[in-house]
Amino acid sequence: MVNLFRTIERDMKKLELKLKEFLRIPVPLLSETGLYLLEAGGKRMRPIFALLAGRLFCGEENALFTVAVAIEVVHMASLAHDDIVDDSALRRGRPTLAARWGSEAAVVTGDYLLAQAMQLIYGLKNRALAAMLARTSTEMCRGEICQIQAAHDTGQSIYDYFYKIRRKTALLLSMSCEAGAVVAGAAGDEARALRQYGQCLGMAFQMVDDILDIEATKEELGKPVGSDVRQGVITLPMIIAMSGDGAEAARLRELLARKEKSAAETEEALALIRRSDGIPRSREAARRFVARACQKLPLLPNRPERAALERLAVMGLTRRH
Ligand code: IPE
Ligand code: IPE
Ligand code: MG
Ligand code: MG
Repeated sequence: MVNLFRTIERDMKKLELKLKEFLRIPVPLLSETGLYLLEAGGKRMRPIFALLAGRLFCGEENALFTVAVAIEVVHMASLAHDDIVDDSALRRGRPTLAARWGSEAAVVTGDYLLAQAMQLIYGLKNRALAAMLARTSTEMCRGEICQIQAAHDTGQSIYDYFYKIRRKTALLLSMSCEAGAVVAGAAGDEARALRQYGQCLGMAFQMVDDILDIEATKEELGKPVGSDVRQGVITLPMIIAMSGDGAEAARLRELLARKEKSAAETEEALALIRRSDGIPRSREAARRFVARACQKLPLLPNRPERAALERLAVMGLTRRH
């Protein structure tokens, strides 16, 4: 395990260099915005999963790093766009691209990053990987558009919520794990196990993100809190909190259905959710998804990378950012 941590540390340094190199775009505004978002930090979770999945099968390094870079760049593109959709002013502890350069530059930066990531994957001449990325990006848009359509709709079910988070978040995490394995030459059933592991983990990851949006601080997250309530994005803790038949649940339904909310009403809604059992029950749901993810791991080679995948999955449940 100690050796593996050294390898991960080395990989992360190499990844940063490669990402930086990749974002030195010969168009000043695009390289400025891309590097700004990159240098603001971020957990680099998706490339870490891709690299671990690839290392599990002792894959060739160059192709594996290409996949890891492409996936983080797709993620960055989705952040650039998501912050416009969510009208958010803070990302990774800094003003968002839109807040700093305007939404026109932020839209085009997101488009450019996505297109460049596709080109990078195309260069690997691996049809399965190219198809995976095309499918994942399509589904991510479906998830986001569905979220836009369903804003303020307090009648949504847990299944509507799962539909959205699977697409907007879980599939990219799933692809990170699967693509790392595929490019490293894993067998079909092993790649499938990693895809399923990543998908369950991605579901849990978004659930935790949705919980943190209600109970964490802006300083911890490096992005605004209460943003889902403000935007009318109905998340699992809210669905659970609204499902009661008491006066508080009724009041919450009324507040969340409002398109315009004052700051005091947003605070009131947040307080109602915090007082309900929405957060502990959502945590429990996330824990179940992590357990399901870990159930896939015995199908993989018994190497230190597999143990690391298990540890990372469990650690995600208690993260604060
Ligand atoms: C944020 O992802 C968007 C979601 C899918 C919740 P991360 O929490 O991985 O963001 P960074 O990369 O660490 O900034
Ligand atoms: C993630 O959902 C959407 C993406 C695909 C980027 P959120 O809207 O909850 O992500 P944050 O909270 O802004 O990072
Ligand atoms: Mg957002
Ligand atoms: Mg969020």
